[in-house]
Amino acid sequence: MRTINELVQDHIRNLEPYTPGFQPTGDGWIKLNTNELPYAPPEEIRKAIHEESTRLARYPSPTSQELREVLAKFYQVKVDQVIIGNGSDDLLNLLVRAFGGAGKQTLETFPSYSLYPVLTAIAAGDIKSIQFGTDFALPVEQLIESKSEILFLTSPNAPTGVRFPLDQIRELAKRFDGVLVIDEAYAEFAEGSALPLLEEFDHVVITRTFSKAYGLAGLRVGYALASPEVINILDRVRDSYNVNRLSQAGAASAIQSQEYYISVINEVKQTRERTREALLGVGWKVYPSEANFLFAEPVDTSGKKGADVAAALYQFLINAKILVRYFPKHPLTESYLRISIGSPSEMERFIEEVKKWQNSE
Ligand SMILES: Cc1ncc(COP(=O)(O)O)c(C=O)c1O
Repeated sequence: MRTINELVQDHIRNLEPYTPGFQPTGDGWIKLNTNELPYAPPEEIRKAIHEESTRLARYPSPTSQELREVLAKFYQVKVDQVIIGNGSDDLLNLLVRAFGGAGKQTLETFPSYSLYPVLTAIAAGDIKSIQFGTDFALPVEQLIESKSEILFLTSPNAPTGVRFPLDQIRELAKRFDGVLVIDEAYAEFAEGSALPLLEEFDHVVITRTFSKAYGLAGLRVGYALASPEVINILDRVRDSYNVNRLSQAGAASAIQSQEYYISVINEVKQTRERTREALLGVGWKVYPSEANFLFAEPVDTSGKKGADVAAALYQFLINAKILVRYFPKHPLTESYLRISIGSPSEMERFIEEVKKWQNSE
């Protein structure tokens, strides 16, 4: 008998899986590690999900048709320019399934969303990473030069929160000879988007999610907007019933609740700016963020910074039951923490603990 290890495909055997942010069980945690919204969904959305639950004996719409229509109307695009996924991760996966994989090359900037290399590895594709400098400016020329079938660009970027200027993304779209995916998971918190490029280019895809600004990470719904040609291809490689009924109903209701979300998003942005000011005030370097998180370099009272300092504070915060995200594996990220924006009171607690840590050093 062959062993399981012998049976598994070569490229899967040593695959390094994606590491999701820690989801603690138990009470008392302040969760600033996975960029979720700190507020429960409004009553209308919970009602829509509850009502839909009476129809659970039936399969859902394979294409999430009603939600597609609601989104097409919202963005003023055609219905065949929209596809719905089980989270935007599902769409990123479909993009690699369709355009990446064996014999193809995925291109990414580094650091950005660490799922892209994992999806590429699962599909037996190659990945090329173009490193940012410390200014995190978009390396347009390098990206254009590195002939690839698919490019994932996260804007606003994660983990920095920096959004790339539209004219630079347009320049990329003009000259990049592959599918250009702009992952706009955090765009609702930003002051601009690459949406205008959809009218100009057939090879531009924009992915969005209900997990962040809409506070529905637990529902798992994302969507992509692109030309009918690209959407048709993604639709062909999609799992037949990729989004369940409850999620389709909840997400459609969320799009109709714009007034609520506009005020919530504003609140998050205000809290973000207050938190940024507070961290700049204690001497940290903090990138200007257009997302619902901050990428910040801690400094201790003696003025010391670096990987040891970031790691020490990360641990100190865990002991205080505050979770943030730390990416220790790379020189560009190892002296920083990524801090999701929670409620105003959660962020006050966070700042208090930071000051406590500084005084205890
Ligand atoms: C840049 C980026 N894209 C996509 C996602 C995935 O979102 P979803 O919950 O829609 O799968 C995340 C989640 O953290 C993200 O940071």
